Amino acid sequence: MLPVVSLDPESALHVSIDHLLEGVQVIGFDWTYLYVNETAARHGERSVHDLVGVTMMHAYPGIDTTPLFRALHRVMTSRQSEELVNEFTYPTGATRWFELRIQPVPVGVCVLSLDITERRTAELQLQQTQKMETVGQLVGGIVHDFNNSLTVMMGNADLVTMRLGQDHPASGELQEIAQAAEQAAALTQQLLAFARKRHTRRHAVAPGEVLGHLEPLLRRLLPRNVGLQLVRAHDGACVWADRTQLEQIVLNLVVNARDAMPTGGTVTMGVHLELPAGTGRAAPDGLAGTVVLSVADTGTGMTPEIQARIFEAFFTTKAEGRGTGLGLAVVREVVEQLGGTIDVASAPGAGSTFTIRLPQSLRGEAPARRREPSGAPSGREAVLLVDGAPGVRSFARTVLQRSGYQVIDAESAEAALRSVTGAGAPVDLLVTDLVLPGMDGAQLAIRLRDDFPDVRAVFLSGDGRQAGVDLPAGADVLEKPFTAHALLVRVRDVLNARPA
Ligand SMILES: Nc1ncnc2c1ncn2[C@@H]1O[C@H](COP(=O)(O)OP(=O)(O)OP(=O)(O)O)[C@@H](O)[C@H]1O
Ligand SMILES: [Mg+2]
Repeated sequence: MLPVVSLDPESALHVSIDHLLEGVQVIGFDWTYLYVNETAARHGERSVHDLVGVTMMHAYPGIDTTPLFRALHRVMTSRQSEELVNEFTYPTGATRWFELRIQPVPVGVCVLSLDITERRTAELQLQQTQKMETVGQLVGGIVHDFNNSLTVMMGNADLVTMRLGQDHPASGELQEIAQAAEQAAALTQQLLAFARKRHTRRHAVAPGEVLGHLEPLLRRLLPRNVGLQLVRAHDGACVWADRTQLEQIVLNLVVNARDAMPTGGTVTMGVHLELPAGTGRAAPDGLAGTVVLSVADTGTGMTPEIQARIFEAFFTTKAEGRGTGLGLAVVREVVEQLGGTIDVASAPGAGSTFTIRLPQSLRGEAPARRREPSGAPSGREAVLLVDGAPGVRSFARTVLQRSGYQVIDAESAEAALRSVTGAGAPVDLLVTDLVLPGMDGAQLAIRLRDDFPDVRAVFLSGDGRQAGVDLPAGADVLEKPFTAHALLVRVRDVLNARPA
């Protein structure tokens, strides 16, 4: 039951006006506040008492130079109402957005104000999201072709190196080519991760173990005057993630730390487990903690203005060509995908510390993938190789043939089926691009099983779009660009996993 209140009309009006969503103010011809309701006072961060009876210039020194005042002035003199959207800056420097309606009244002007800050922020965020979606579509569109080109570059550099031998005078230059292609591949991965197109395969991974494995690689990235420390407590604590996501996070943070220390310093990476309060030392079953991952440097640090923008996509303070400004945007994207948070503490001259908190996963560690053996494995099995890109096809064919495999190649699923069905020859393994003109790689694998029930498959993927293709559970995917070694290892692994 709603309470029944009896008030005289004037009191009822006052109570109601004070509780309106809109601020109401009446300003006299001499700029004195004649009436201010509670909401308007709140909008101005003053009390009604502070405002009524004083002039605007007295209450807000400097207000007579603002666009808002000019609008009020126009209405005062012209007696024509106006509407405007205005950003009001408080003495603290904070700002809020208001929709204002200014109307002439017999005693001066009346201003109705509506706080639209939240709505405006949401609109701006939506615009930003739409912009990033467009970027994502663009990226997804070119990445497939781009990764094909990279496979050909990296692959052929590999092949020439093998042919000439490591001691050949040109091997240095070849390595440069391979490295440049790898950098381009890393950038592609960043863009893809950003566009959320990367298909991730999550399992329980221990960040402590990932950092341990990355350490030697990271050391090579750092110049001699930069030290690297790894502090680990609760090494085995796991999070539910794709291993490469964690590697990507750490790599980005360490490279940033390096760039912030042009005259040397120390990078300290840390991992520890935080348990829910009051649970003692060991996490009881079913009560997960937080895995805290940190990367600290002793570098230049950041001003609050820079700090406020570092997670924006394409924000960089680095020279043209040195930074794309995607690093931290990707890091934050990935951390959020994993249900975590990222914080930064920094001050000019005092270095920076990035802290990432991820929910602990109590699921047991999934069996780790076998490490790549050093020699390239070989075999004699029959491989059906399908890829629409001639360069990729010829590189993969050369690699597989040199290692002893019998290779039949085709540019489409339909052509592949024509060349093997009814030919009487066996097919042990299908190596196919997922995205093909016509029938896709996954459909081809299913069709092929009609004729060769034991056939295994390795799917090549160039744009992380396999999320859109129906892949059988546990399908083996090899991301483009890949090296000769990676192809041979994967092919052997999958063939060995066949039931005897
Ligand atoms: N550890 C750090 N110390 C000082 N400034 C940093 C640090 N990490 C990031 N920044 C600042 O944040 C900006 C954005 O970083 P981000 O990693 O997103 O892009 P980038 O490093 O400039 O380019 P990219 O990572 O794409 O090559 C940097 O340009 C730099 O100004
Ligand atoms: Mg960076």
